[in-house]
Amino acid sequence: MISVSTIQKINDEARVEDIVGEFVTLKKRGANLQGLCPFHNEKTPSFNVSPAKNIYKCFGCGKAGGPLNFLMDYQQMSYPDALRYVAKKYGIEIEETERTDEEKQRELEQHNLTESILIANTAAQKFFTDYMLHNENGKIGLAYFKERGFLTSTIEKFQLGFAPDAGDAFTKHALQNGYQLDILKKAGLTSPKENSTYDFFRNRVMFPIHNLTGKVVAFGGRIMGKDEKAPKYVNTPESEVYIKSKVLYGLFFSKNDIRKKDECLLVEGYTDVISLHQNGIENVVASSGTALTQEQIRLVKRITSNITLIYDGDAAGIKAALRGTDLILEEGMNVRIVVLPAPEDPDSYVRKVGAEDFQKYVQQNKRDLISFKTSMLAEEAKQDPIQKAKLIREIIESIAKIPDQIQRSVYIKQSSQLFDMHEQILITEVNKLRRKRVKEAEQAINPEQQLVQAANEAQEQKALADIHGEQLNEASGNLPLLEREVVRVLMEFGSWQLLVEETMTTVTAFVLAELEGLEIQTPRLQKTYGYIKSEFAQGNVHDEKHFLQHDDIEVASLAIEILAQPYSLSENWWNKYQVVVPEKRNIFARDIQSVLNHYKRHITTEEIKKVNAAIKKASEEGNEEELMNLLKDHRLLTEQKKEISKNSGTVI
Ligand code: CTP
Ligand code: MN
Repeated sequence: MISVSTIQKINDEARVEDIVGEFVTLKKRGANLQGLCPFHNEKTPSFNVSPAKNIYKCFGCGKAGGPLNFLMDYQQMSYPDALRYVAKKYGIEIEETERTDEEKQRELEQHNLTESILIANTAAQKFFTDYMLHNENGKIGLAYFKERGFLTSTIEKFQLGFAPDAGDAFTKHALQNGYQLDILKKAGLTSPKENSTYDFFRNRVMFPIHNLTGKVVAFGGRIMGKDEKAPKYVNTPESEVYIKSKVLYGLFFSKNDIRKKDECLLVEGYTDVISLHQNGIENVVASSGTALTQEQIRLVKRITSNITLIYDGDAAGIKAALRGTDLILEEGMNVRIVVLPAPEDPDSYVRKVGAEDFQKYVQQNKRDLISFKTSMLAEEAKQDPIQKAKLIREIIESIAKIPDQIQRSVYIKQSSQLFDMHEQILITEVNKLRRKRVKEAEQAINPEQQLVQAANEAQEQKALADIHGEQLNEASGNLPLLEREVVRVLMEFGSWQLLVEETMTTVTAFVLAELEGLEIQTPRLQKTYGYIKSEFAQGNVHDEKHFLQHDDIEVASLAIEILAQPYSLSENWWNKYQVVVPEKRNIFARDIQSVLNHYKRHITTEEIKKVNAAIKKASEEGNEEELMNLLKDHRLLTEQKKEISKNSGTVI
């Protein structure tokens, strides 16, 4: 423990302008100093440092304190660590109060659980490292790391180690040294089974995972070599001190370089971080193979707003690269993505080409999210307007999440060029989504509203999903959905050819003929439907691209919205029947018929309802002539409905 007199001395010596000045550029303003606040984003300085009072205060976000507070808050140091940091800076010798074994024991007991676990973890780390470096049986671990090209200095820096093969070597050792079994179990170092003293990690090389202050909060243990049955990595179970989603591997070692370079590289694996460090690239952290979380992003955001994701060149790597990217945008950070040439990962690639070329590759190949997403799917999308609509939708959603308006408009401009679309269409869509989000946020505050909203959404979702599914019937009562389907068919397959009663005809011609005399009732769809009709009357039939890039924003927006919906019936059918591409059209034809049938059946059912009401009224009034006419209508409608039901699959 640091003695009271040392603490006194440190507090006397520490100068706020020195400590803060290490991390923030300060300019003189009268008696005070001023700079850009490191705790929040700002463009004009409101962060003030008063040497006279030995404090800092931000008038923007309210953060304030003395030199030690700054280290604890900004650098996430513990109090003792902040004391040691300042002592080192000013050359103050630290006087530690000696502790007897008895005191140690008491201290151990007094510590709260969290600290006990951290202490046990430190002991474990020391044991694993020691075992690897000095025990005959541990040399195999050292050999493994050496084989991978890790230098001794790297092994020491990252405190790598080896967990013995023997069942309980570590636990026994720890118990002998006064650690309680209960704590060892809670730390995830010993098997959680009751009374068991079995080690949790056995025969694995060990990667300690540090928190921001350098304390070991968990371990990752890697199997040496390949074993198809055992998992490659075993990690400490989550506990009081280890919440996976809040930790980034390597951040403790990387935070200074991240600050210096104003950029954080994000990779997937422990070994990637270590290898890059060994090659002098120290602004790197790992998500440890899981999707990035908001907490992790915020850890980085405190240091830099530039994040570059470096991913393996395989398909899984690319998919992984996109997970969590919207979260980064939402935080207002700049996200860039680099995909390494397959099959390399950062570790193998830096070993292959060296630090310089690695960095060159990253610089030359990093792209912002929008152009990355686009180029990734561009080939596919070029061939397939539906894919394209989906992609546009996805990108609009990403852009809508960016808090900064200027940045949004830059992305919008860029996308409009990439997609050859009117900027205004994208702006309209982005704004629509943003308004929707505001509304949702407002509703989130009101729990009652929230329930209603959730129920509505669930219903709508289900209806949307079902409309293509086998329970198409369930959606039959929903006119807007059915009409939407009709319009979707017209936009999506309008220009396709169908064989109807031995004559080739376009889907548009077929659908419009089938719906002769019916008017679309959903206001949002009327304009587009009317447009399709009038174009058809002039002999024009269009494909999806025409609608997606339409000059009329309303038409284009509707196309983006509708066509971006996954076309799930067909997909289901692909899977179910393994339909091959040449037969795709037949499937669509059947699908179109089914959409039309449901639509017409709905309309007819509504008509029948109306006639029923009129019949009731006429018979009450004793209006016989009217009644006869109505009954005739009723018969006709009922027959029509029967006919529609029977009709499924008459096309093709
Ligand atoms: N991971 C894990 N559990 C697994 C597999 C992976 O926790 N069974 C995490 C680890 O944090 C690992 C990261 O996912 O570092 C990336 O996995 P992978 O690329 O398979 O491992 P590498 O780190 O590349 O390890 P190595 O180079 O030793 O194969
Ligand atoms: Mn690897």
